[in-house]
Amino acid sequence: DVVSRKGLPLNIGAAVGTAFYGGPDSQTYREVLKRQFNMVVCENEMKFENIQPLPGYFDFEKGDALLAFAAANGMKMRGHTLIWHQQNPLWLMQGSWTRETLLAVMREHIQTVMRHYRGRIAEWDVANECIDDGPGHGLRKTVWAEVIGPDYLDWAFRYAREADPDALLFYNDYGAEPENAKSDAVYRLVKGMKQRGVPIDGVGLQCHFHNDELGPAQLAAIAGNIKRFTELGLKVAVTELDIRIRKPAAARDYAVQAENYRQMIRLFRSNPDCSTFMMWGFSDRYSWIPQFFTDCDDALILDRNFEPKPAYAALRGEL
Ligand code: XIL
Repeated sequence: DVVSRKGLPLNIGAAVGTAFYGGPDSQTYREVLKRQFNMVVCENEMKFENIQPLPGYFDFEKGDALLAFAAANGMKMRGHTLIWHQQNPLWLMQGSWTRETLLAVMREHIQTVMRHYRGRIAEWDVANECIDDGPGHGLRKTVWAEVIGPDYLDWAFRYAREADPDALLFYNDYGAEPENAKSDAVYRLVKGMKQRGVPIDGVGLQCHFHNDELGPAQLAAIAGNIKRFTELGLKVAVTELDIRIRKPAAARDYAVQAENYRQMIRLFRSNPDCSTFMMWGFSDRYSWIPQFFTDCDDALILDRNFEPKPAYAALRGEL
């Protein structure tokens, strides 16, 4: 398995999707999952549209099932995600809210979900992808930001801490892995939160990478970025790592991919403020990549038959 046996403790795991809940492979899928990892996260099942599909109606069934599996196998769990602009129900997106009524909805959502899982979910992505990709990298214009105002994240984290004081609270985003204009904006955001005494514990770097983007300069820029966040007193987690390859993949691409996974875990293993390393799936049989980046695939560490790829050996070698 890839779980640490030496050095710093490490939560290492994968996002778990529909294959877990049934289907022809679910037995193999579960076996591999519990043998290889010590942490899991729901790929979709705890997102707003799934966990509160109707106002005040919460559906914890799938989350509970994965939590029971995790607990039975000595694994921890991350929660993903409470506040986001995607995978929200229509009632939320189309409601006519005021600042007060939407703050109440936000509080009710965060606190009902977190209290249900209180003490059993180690880390929560309280907020996901709230920084805009446009030139100024301001706050993304979501229903939350537009109706509540720029302090909505402060409130989200305060509500979260109140609901489960033992959970580590993360701000999670993509494209902010190296030092760049977007991570500068994330940095300003979380630094401001720290200065205002808002209870935030960490920053999640999604890490959905392309196989060609992780050269030495980029890796150094990621290391520098991790350093500045940890110097704010925050933890840094890799939350959704996958490294996609342009189709069709050749043997050489898998070797490069292995080296990329090796470098990523190396950036992490040496830092005590980096203790969670999650991939967005584990077998290329089940990955969001070919649907969302249609010219790419093969982003994970096991192949379509759940057999190890070179990336698996590379990762394992660092643990
Ligand atoms: C993705 C899931 O993997 C897909 O199944 C779903 O259709 C869309 O969302 N960043 C995130 C994740 O924070 O929640 C996304 O997950 C991938 C990008």
